[in-house]
Amino acid sequence: MSVAKPLPHDSARLHVTGAARYVDDMPVPAGCLHLAFGLSEFACGDILSMDLEAVRAAPGVVMVLTAADLPFANDVSPSAHDEPLLAVDRVDYLGQPLFAVVATSHVAARRAARLGRIAHKARPALLTIEAALAANSRFEDGPRIYTMGDPAGAIDGADHQVTGRIDMGGQEHFYLEGQAALALPQEAGDMHVISSTQHPTEIQHKVAEALGVPMHGVRVETRRMGGGFGGKESQGNALAVACAVAARATGRACKMRYDRDDDMVITGKRHDFRIDYRAGFDAGGRIVGVEFVQYARCGWAQDLSLPVADRAMLHSDNAYRLPNVRIESHRLKTNTQSATAFRGFGGPQGMLGIERVMDHAARVLGLDGVEIRRRNYYDERVEGGSAPRPAAAPRDISVPKNEDLASRGAEVSEPGDAAAPEGAQVTPYGMEVRDFILHGMTRQLLESCDYAARRAAVDDWNARNATIKRGIAFSPVKFGISFTLTHLNQAGALVHVYQDGSVHLNHGGTEMGQGLFRKVAQVAAQRFGIAPEDVRITATDTAKVPNTSATAASSGSDLNGMAVQAACDIIRDRMAAHLAEQHQAAPGDVRFEGGRVYVGGAEYSFAEAAQMAYVGRVSLSATGFYKTPGLAWDRIEGRGRPFFYFAYGAAVSEVAVDTRTGENRILRADILHDAGASLNPAIDIGQVEGGYVQGAGWLTTEELVWDDAGRLRTHAPSTYKIPACSDRPDVFNVALWDGANPEATVYRSKAVGEPPFMLGISAFLALSDAVAACGPAYPALNAPATPEEIWRAIARARGEAR
Ligand code: MTE
Ligand code: MOS
Repeated sequence: MSVAKPLPHDSARLHVTGAARYVDDMPVPAGCLHLAFGLSEFACGDILSMDLEAVRAAPGVVMVLTAADLPFANDVSPSAHDEPLLAVDRVDYLGQPLFAVVATSHVAARRAARLGRIAHKARPALLTIEAALAANSRFEDGPRIYTMGDPAGAIDGADHQVTGRIDMGGQEHFYLEGQAALALPQEAGDMHVISSTQHPTEIQHKVAEALGVPMHGVRVETRRMGGGFGGKESQGNALAVACAVAARATGRACKMRYDRDDDMVITGKRHDFRIDYRAGFDAGGRIVGVEFVQYARCGWAQDLSLPVADRAMLHSDNAYRLPNVRIESHRLKTNTQSATAFRGFGGPQGMLGIERVMDHAARVLGLDGVEIRRRNYYDERVEGGSAPRPAAAPRDISVPKNEDLASRGAEVSEPGDAAAPEGAQVTPYGMEVRDFILHGMTRQLLESCDYAARRAAVDDWNARNATIKRGIAFSPVKFGISFTLTHLNQAGALVHVYQDGSVHLNHGGTEMGQGLFRKVAQVAAQRFGIAPEDVRITATDTAKVPNTSATAASSGSDLNGMAVQAACDIIRDRMAAHLAEQHQAAPGDVRFEGGRVYVGGAEYSFAEAAQMAYVGRVSLSATGFYKTPGLAWDRIEGRGRPFFYFAYGAAVSEVAVDTRTGENRILRADILHDAGASLNPAIDIGQVEGGYVQGAGWLTTEELVWDDAGRLRTHAPSTYKIPACSDRPDVFNVALWDGANPEATVYRSKAVGEPPFMLGISAFLALSDAVAACGPAYPALNAPATPEEIWRAIARARGEAR
């Protein structure tokens, strides 16, 4: 058995011994050159002239490239064509690349890049949400609006109203390996690029455009990233394109890696948001209507901001049935780094909006935070809706028999079920919620963490202590799985079985530490009934599997696992057919199990079976393909079924706050998370732990500060505080929900990459709880809840103006 085993990450040993190769560790050919960008020192204005004489004359400099030197496309945007690699005539943010230095060493390139003299005429920079709104500076003509029912009427007529605002900051990805690329020129103008990217196909596409060659002239390879977290979906384009152009121009290998400070100054981060809300509740604490106005600060270029802002809208309900709702979303264009994908992709921001409403209403209504949430949950089952699909033998992961050989998971498709049936409970965008498991998860978590007693103990502590206040809070997660751009929900795989029975595995997904390669290799091993060690995991390569989607939206294992399963099954079917013929047996009776192949009373090792198939001239190589079934989404109307299913989670966090300084700690966190029938519980629990800590970091210590000139002041770990080992909760209990995906995903597993990030919201709510214990007023805590913000919120709770 291979699937569902808690195997360690395939590169764990390489990671901890330092032997894992990242882009900067690749051996390079002699004469390899190094690149650095010269960056804008102002946030907005026209470039009058660039004096680069000193740059050209600096030691080690081989070439300096400006926009005018680029032979073909000067664009590194994912789709909108609004992001020049090197600035043309104008500058849109402080830190924008203006020119590229090509030198004999990394240090020489960086030193020279500081020597440019840029004459410019400044324009007023729009740095904030207020400034962008005042100037009507935005992407798309106006706000996007999704509505259901009559929210204004429902709120006005409700027993209780709550109105407020929450500001939430952005977040630096802080991948441990910075952005990096290496371009190796090939004969006849071809280019081989090694890139730290979640999206090799996009790198291939952008490099091809920049070199004026078809995509077949560019091959992109990615063995692993030292973390991506969404920050390497599009932000690696600039480095790869610059290296490729320089490699073409010089005929030499070219490499670029951002120094950490440059990385933070140049690249986009999580979108900061402001959310205004107005909600109405009945006497029993049921929400009757809610209105959200979301403001997203998108930065200077579009990048992925539209789908990020869409996803924030789509998670405005989180786990709650909202009978009347209006969500208005403003995508504001500012003179700051172009905000980009970051774990959750707007979902966390949207979800924090409704969690704030629940927190606020619980105070106003005098209800416990868990109670008000449970009363507003979607129903587990609904009359009139479609029943949750049974998860066929959910935990049965035995080696498939021949019927199973015929019905490949990859071909499972349930078309025509995108529309919700009459009477179904639906999300604000009209998707039926038919697999709502949070009632049971909540019950189990509250019991296992002893919530009721601890709630009472916290209240008791707070009644007796004035200086240190405690807080405890629960929050649920319901996160939609699939790319909302429907066509991205596809994947390919390439599998070879060699004549010695060893297996070469390749697929379109990329490895960034999340354990995708290990999980997918477990699927391959399971299909052949062999040990995972017999499956060779290989680097993502656009020459092996083409036209891939970014490894994103948490769907890496869902999509690539299925594509690999399809490829393996094709080979396995061929082997079975060949062996069956030789033994006058039915192909369906051939079994692959425990490294052996059983056919008509005979038994072979998998290697022998492979050898026999080879000698019998049977093809032992196959591609596999998968597309997610049943999706239909109209993003303009905000209607349809954008997601294949939902992943769920629940967390309880407990904190302590020093009311004199605002300093605080997470004392304990308990999590129950739904990974379906987990492909690898060890890796999935790691994802949950890391996601929670990263989510809590976003909402507590991680603060991005720009000065009035638009300069990012927090551009290094000295000023930007990510969670450290010591910030991990002292007590940290993480468990996986024992369930299976009712939808036909790979071995009934669920995506796990992003959803646990939002469990960190419980830490923020626990801080809100502790602060609220300081006074009669609702503290309206903003994020990140740094000590300063907590201190201000305490003053608000006490009714002191501060
Ligand atoms: N885990 C690690 N260790 N490193 C990462 O960069 N990225 C996250 C998540 N978990 C990330 C991670 C993000 S943003 C996504 S979308 C998913 O992993 C992508 O991988 P998956 O689809 O295979 O889950
Ligand atoms: Mo993840 S933000 O979808 O790369």
